[in-house]
Amino acid sequence: MIKIIKYSEDAKNNEKLKTEIINFLYKNLENFGDPIEYIENAVNYALKYSNSHGGFIAVAYSSEDIMASVAVVLYTGLKGVFPENLLAYLAVDKKFRVKGIGSELIQYMLNNTTGSISLQVDPKNPAKKLYKKFGFDVKYLEMRLYR
Ligand SMILES: CC(C)(COP(=O)(O)OP(=O)(O)OC[C@H]1O[C@@H](n2cnc3c(N)ncnc32)[C@H](O)[C@@H]1OP(=O)(O)O)[C@@H](O)C(=O)NCCC(=O)NCCS
Repeated sequence: MIKIIKYSEDAKNNEKLKTEIINFLYKNLENFGDPIEYIENAVNYALKYSNSHGGFIAVAYSSEDIMASVAVVLYTGLKGVFPENLLAYLAVDKKFRVKGIGSELIQYMLNNTTGSISLQVDPKNPAKKLYKKFGFDVKYLEMRLYR
């Protein structure tokens, strides 16, 4: 049995929580992770540390109150071709995987957003199957100029 708590701008000054979320994602994204400063940027965006459209962070806690999963959703301020929401990060602690917690967080995100949602997933990541189950599909090929 897990409990999901939604944090947004009102959690902005909770530095301890913010650090816990960033470290959790850094550790549990594993092979599909990002440098910690990218994760921090997304967390800052969601909690409106930066001048942003905001978003929210859904955290699932186990019955022993241990952080089991984190999802970071960013509001883009756009719509149409560019979806309203971006699922920036989703990770479940290894101990809690394949018990349905990732699915619960995806469902929570669907229930707590309006409009479309985009996400990026490595073509080799088995999480692709999970997203497909919820109806996510590949519409465009992303091209990026790195600089
Ligand atoms: C992807 C992730 C969030 C799934 O969380 P979860 O709580 O295990 O997911 P659920 O229990 O709800 O669903 C399990 C489903 O995840 C998929 N899956 C993802 N990674 C998997 C893995 N390494 N092994 C087995 N199944 C995996 C399968 O489709 C499985 O579905 P099935 O049970 O019908 O076969 C979790 O594996 C994770 O944190 N992975 C590392 C970080 C990551 O890749 N995040 C996504 C980045 S886009």
